[in-house]
Amino acid sequence: MKDLQGFQKKKAFIGVYGCQMNISDAERMEGQLGTLGYERTEDMTDADLILLNTCCVRETAEDKVYGKIGEIKHLKHAKQTLIFGITGCMAQKEGEALIRRAPHIDFVLGTNKVHELKDVVKRLESERCGHIVDVFLGNAPLPEDVPIERAGRLSAWVPIMYGCDNFCTYCIVPYVRGREHSRQPEDVVREVKAAVGQGFKEVTLLGQNVNSYGKDHKRADFAELLQMVDEIEGIERVRYMTSHPKDLSDRVIEAVKNGKHICPHFHLPVQHGSDRILKAMNRVYRKDAYRSLVERIRTAVPGASLTTDLIVGFPGEAEEDFAELLDFLKEIRYDAAYTFLYSKRSGTPAATMEEQVEASVKKERLHRLMQVQNRISLEKNQELQNSVQEVLVEGPSRTDEAIWTGRTGTNKIVLWKKKGTEAEGDIVRVRITQPQTWVLKGELQTD
Ligand code: SAH
Ligand code: SF4
Ligand code: F3S
Repeated sequence: MKDLQGFQKKKAFIGVYGCQMNISDAERMEGQLGTLGYERTEDMTDADLILLNTCCVRETAEDKVYGKIGEIKHLKHAKQTLIFGITGCMAQKEGEALIRRAPHIDFVLGTNKVHELKDVVKRLESERCGHIVDVFLGNAPLPEDVPIERAGRLSAWVPIMYGCDNFCTYCIVPYVRGREHSRQPEDVVREVKAAVGQGFKEVTLLGQNVNSYGKDHKRADFAELLQMVDEIEGIERVRYMTSHPKDLSDRVIEAVKNGKHICPHFHLPVQHGSDRILKAMNRVYRKDAYRSLVERIRTAVPGASLTTDLIVGFPGEAEEDFAELLDFLKEIRYDAAYTFLYSKRSGTPAATMEEQVEASVKKERLHRLMQVQNRISLEKNQELQNSVQEVLVEGPSRTDEAIWTGRTGTNKIVLWKKKGTEAEGDIVRVRITQPQTWVLKGELQTD
């Protein structure tokens, strides 16, 4: 495409791995590239610049990126002017080592350097100055004036805090994202207002542990921030993730209960169902405290959905611990669970723990766990048979133009046959006729 002056636009391919925080960072990087005259391409072979925004939470995430780095080598040989950079958590973790391993990488930028992408690319464009590596993980507030090119059209990711101070023993995130620091409430509100002004209906407030929001600047805590965002004119839905069970306060539960737009969905990763393993994971809470938290949530917000993250095969997980985990799932009855095989991350305390669980045992346990959870998810969804759900319309499903999709406030995916009047961004009512494990199928209500 040519711009107004008739110049050929430069093209950027941006590969994003990992969590919503990485998607959000990538949006800020794409925004900066836009000001340098780049437009996005989905075709790597067509790109003038390739950026991989990476994740290292599990080995599988890293393997994917190394595979991609390998693929890009021949593109770089074929097109000398191609600029290739690695950003995100793997960049932070590996730094220079990435370039030693793959010298066709031009730059490596760490997680607290997102806002410096523009300057780095400008330098590389003008002087081909060799490799640039900047992974300094300072704790300075990040600049607020970074342009954002949002990936979605309905739902906006809005970071409210960066970093993590929890140091769960299996997790690399605190090492690659640095210490917790919160954005100022007015900056968050300004960003949400701007997104709503652009037509976004839903925001998800992001942080590794949103309940710690404001503990540093003390200008507002998470419950207060939720209320501020809830009051923004034109907002339809407010979501947040992730909340650590150790400090989800009753004030936050109250804020959700009394909120006009805050979704009745609690993603409350428990990680395990054995107190012994929770202790070894440094998850701080124990099963009893978690139980009582769930009870308070369910009393205050009946009908709220509850989801979790689980790790199978943490070092020392004996068959009895695993059996406790299955029992806990049956007791709590989550709507859905994101399940992961424990992955050894060097530099974390769990990596050097004795009694690492064998891969085949881990896989077999994961399989059993998913069978139990899938049955519960199906049963929970079956409870919604014949109910009428309010659904935010996302548009046609990927496989069939005639079947439309959207989500409930409880974050369940709903599918229905399009009737003709509903449009992306509408809130419609759908009667659930066929609840399944992962989706609810239903009929649009027009009366
Ligand atoms: N801050 C969030 C989680 C961020 S990482 C929280 O505490 O809830 C997302 C999920 O990845 C975690 O909840 C955990 O279940 C999983 N995870 C983190 N490190 C892992 C590892 N080394 N192996 C397997 N799963 C891991
Ligand atoms: Fe990792 Fe724990 Fe921090 Fe979540 S709270 S990012 S699991 S260290
Ligand atoms: Fe991955 Fe970094 Fe997110 S390690 S899960 S992209 S914070």
